[in-house]
Amino acid sequence: MRVPITASKGSPYARIEGIGAAIPSRVVDNEEMCTYIDSSDEWIQQRTGIVERRWVAEGETVETLSLDAARQAIERAGLTAADIDAVIISTVSHLVQTPSLAAVVAAKLGCSDAAAFDISAACAGFCYGVGMAESLVRSGAATHVLAIGAETLSEMTDLSDRSTAFLFADGAGAAVVGPSDVPTMGPLVWGSDGDQAEVIEMDRSWPEAVATGETSHITMDGRPVFRWATTFIADAASRTLAAAGLAPEDLDLFVPHQANNRITDAMLRTLKLPDTVKVARTIVNFGNNSAASIGIALNSMIESGEARSGDTCLMIGFGAGLVYAGQVITIP
Ligand SMILES: CC(C)(COP(=O)(O)OP(=O)(O)OC[C@H]1O[C@@H](n2cnc3c(N)ncnc32)[C@H](O)[C@@H]1OP(=O)(O)O)[C@@H](O)C(=O)NCCC(=O)NCCS
Repeated sequence: MRVPITASKGSPYARIEGIGAAIPSRVVDNEEMCTYIDSSDEWIQQRTGIVERRWVAEGETVETLSLDAARQAIERAGLTAADIDAVIISTVSHLVQTPSLAAVVAAKLGCSDAAAFDISAACAGFCYGVGMAESLVRSGAATHVLAIGAETLSEMTDLSDRSTAFLFADGAGAAVVGPSDVPTMGPLVWGSDGDQAEVIEMDRSWPEAVATGETSHITMDGRPVFRWATTFIADAASRTLAAAGLAPEDLDLFVPHQANNRITDAMLRTLKLPDTVKVARTIVNFGNNSAASIGIALNSMIESGEARSGDTCLMIGFGAGLVYAGQVITIP
């Protein structure tokens, strides 16, 4: 008779235990932006809400931002690095194919022998990472998972491209996810549409960049992205809420990816959230920092007192792929 295999057994539920963020020090306001592209402060604010964005300064990298955000999240979780047994970093800004940024960051944090890997899910990256972290905790594959979203998009932005230069920014957000005896996170609602892969993409592969002596930049066809975000993604946000068994009035916070304030406004019209729901608008001061944006927005709302422990929050990330992921979470 075969000996039965011992299967892993995880926690019945998971919860977010701590959140942290790292904001780069260099402030780039719209006035400076207009020295690179033919635009105006008024146009940028009206089309996106952005007043200023943050870029990395000398000595700041996607790695240092990841480390800073992670340390804060681990400390706020009441844990030490040794308690973390898996590290996931969502990024499209780590321009080294291997080793993963997560393995390097795990070692520098002191998460000894933690599983570590990067994922590429662009602006949906924070939600992909947190959703995966929840699954690892519930499956028993890990107990405390560190999920980081970190970007230095300023290094991949064509400063002469007036359709993208004003939008993209840098930063990192992190969450530690661990076991819970009660449900605190709704189902992950996620998906992709690779038929629209070309609407946000790199303009050349790195080998092509080397061959041409150029660097590779992000290009975007803004209108189809805007249309997709305000229709399909707004509906996905509604589905995420329904999947958690909640109605709009059950929410305290709505934290969508900080792509553009007009996209957030359109989502609010679809979701019909009551005025009591606090809505993230960190794009105004931090720009669109892709996988970092939701973690940074959560952190800012916690630090300002807008978000309180126990609050119910709907988050949804969406971006290049096209990919998206939404989930209802509880603020730690
Ligand atoms: C990028 C975005 C703000 C551009 O706005 P838009 O209204 O679609 O802009 P368009 O490219 O159609 O251009 C509209 C007009 O503004 C002008 N314009 C374009 N870029 C400009 C700029 N940077 N400054 C000033 N004017 C600009 C165009 O020339 C055009 O002028 P015209 O009407 O005289 O021809 C918008 O498409 C958008 O928000 N898309 C979603 C992008 C996004 O969120 N991406 C991230 C997803 S993760």
